[in-house]
Amino acid sequence: MSAADLAEVCGIIKSGGIVALPTETVYGLAANALCVRAVEKIFLAKGRPQDNPLIVHIADISELPRLARTIPDEATALAEAFWPGPLTMVLEKSAAVPDITRASLDSVGIRMPSHSVIREIIRAGGTPLAAPSANISGRPSPTTARDCADDLSGRIDAIVDGGACSVGVESTVLSLCGASPRILRPGAITPADIERVLGARIELDSAVMGRSAPGAASSPGMKYKHYAPAARVLLVLGDKNSFCEYVNSRAESGVMALCMCGEEQNLNVPSLELGTAPEQIARALFSALRETDRKGAKTVYAHCPEPDGVGLAVYNRLQRAAAFEVIEL
Ligand code: TXA
Ligand code: MG
Repeated sequence: MSAADLAEVCGIIKSGGIVALPTETVYGLAANALCVRAVEKIFLAKGRPQDNPLIVHIADISELPRLARTIPDEATALAEAFWPGPLTMVLEKSAAVPDITRASLDSVGIRMPSHSVIREIIRAGGTPLAAPSANISGRPSPTTARDCADDLSGRIDAIVDGGACSVGVESTVLSLCGASPRILRPGAITPADIERVLGARIELDSAVMGRSAPGAASSPGMKYKHYAPAARVLLVLGDKNSFCEYVNSRAESGVMALCMCGEEQNLNVPSLELGTAPEQIARALFSALRETDRKGAKTVYAHCPEPDGVGLAVYNRLQRAAAFEVIEL
């Protein structure tokens, strides 16, 4: 980022504006996390429900005590292992974090991203940044500057183009507020990665694999229909051959498929190949969902990946894109 661009973006943030910028996971819509008026603009621009808290982004571990009232040993160990990187830790909030940023919860989600652009902006601006994904609420998260512009052009003060995001799905959200550590949202830092550092089993919130009970969501963001393109998405569980047979028997105009193991050669409908390794699939997922819109798809059959490792994050996002419509072959 040039010195002039950096100065301009920091100027916008300092004066209470909102800016879409790249992180290693997805693009974020950033504002000064400690300024109520600025954070209000984020909710307004995204059309985000007020009960869904924002993640606060820092550039240095020394900023943590200002934001979190207590820092458990687990948090210190996990920060050492995974920060900067795609892990958000939910900790007891300090008095510095305004109500609106954490949706009036007693906790706050904090993450130290690794992307150089957001880190430079936090450092130069001198303030932690609240940054949800830079999409209209409910749409697939943005992984390029164009995705941000498609959703938010005219509603925000600037977009910083840092190329395509390398991870492609949002950070792992881990709560350290309860009796034991619990994953609220799966991401590129897997349950096994975290267990390796903590030396203990961790819990998966019920919202990770399924729908959370109404009103009972510990991660408010997980209760909404999410990541959805205009088409109806159906998640299909089954082997490669049965997936192809199933989709081919439904071939008609407006049908598309999302492939994850080279199925496209055997399909009679337009398809997008996301890759075969879970990391590739994660990187390609949201842009593929947006591509189905550009292609005018009406129904999208997505072949389900194995829900292990990073595949768990892909599975969790696809379930929500499909509004939990899952077909088991
Ligand atoms: O990778 C990411 O985390 C991206 C980039 C921009 O950093 N940000 C992101 O933010 O995905 P957002 O707002 O789209 O998702 C934040 C998720 C939501 O599901 C929200 O409910 C949860 O984190 N969350 C935030 N603070 C929380 C808290 N105090 N307690 C429980 N869940 C929290
Ligand atoms: Mg989001």
